[in-house]
Amino acid sequence: MRNLDRKLVAGNWKMNLLRQDAQWLMAEIIGMLADEESRDVRVAIIPSFVHIGALAQQASADKRFGIGAQNCSDKISGAYTGEVSASMINSVGGKYIIIGHSERRAYFNESNEQLLNKTKLTLSEKLTPIFCCGELLADRNSENYFEIVKQQLTNSLFELSVDDFKNTVIAYEPVWAIGTGLTASPDQAQEMHAFIRKLVADKYGADIADQTTILYGGSCNEKNAKELFSLPDVDGGLIGGAALKSRSFIEIIKALP
Ligand code: 13P
Repeated sequence: MRNLDRKLVAGNWKMNLLRQDAQWLMAEIIGMLADEESRDVRVAIIPSFVHIGALAQQASADKRFGIGAQNCSDKISGAYTGEVSASMINSVGGKYIIIGHSERRAYFNESNEQLLNKTKLTLSEKLTPIFCCGELLADRNSENYFEIVKQQLTNSLFELSVDDFKNTVIAYEPVWAIGTGLTASPDQAQEMHAFIRKLVADKYGADIADQTTILYGGSCNEKNAKELFSLPDVDGGLIGGAALKSRSFIEIIKALP
């Protein structure tokens, strides 16, 4: 049985947009969603750290929006020059934190232990972690993809207690589909999302699995979102490039069933 509360569309703006452009894009998205008043949706906007406070204020009147961060420190506070803590993100109005995006795993060598710490700190601030997993093209070609995703979850996220886990969102982002224009086919996406939900059920029970939001990410756009979002185990999307264009992003939000 599909749980409608699971639905979420998140726009990951990555390292794009100066302040004024970020506020323009936010204003456009707010305006367009205001025209869709009847739509009861959850939308996360995830800009650079430096824009979170301004965008959180800008979007505060429309409860459908939550602003978030693309990363946080795995430390609580202290002498870690250049780091940003989960509590700082909370203090400026952030609601979500992306943990373990493949770009951070690849370019910043984030370990499973660090990702678990980041997730715990996010949850201790009562923010929602969006925990990313997904295989490389080589893993897909060697048919190793189920094992890779299972390891990413079991060696990190599944260390959480059930009470913590149930406030976590999972995003499946096959690395070969990110920014490439290659999207997982509906069969590929559904197969992996069902696999992830089964892993959650085995670890935390069927009820928790049924309530867990599992997003798809990787070249999701206004043309393919409807088909992807109609799959039984796909609860929405984590959107990169298409989230930087207001019209595309709104069409993706409207593609939620
Ligand atoms: P694209 O939608 O640009 O492929 O990026 C996906 C992504 O990495 C979102 O986190």
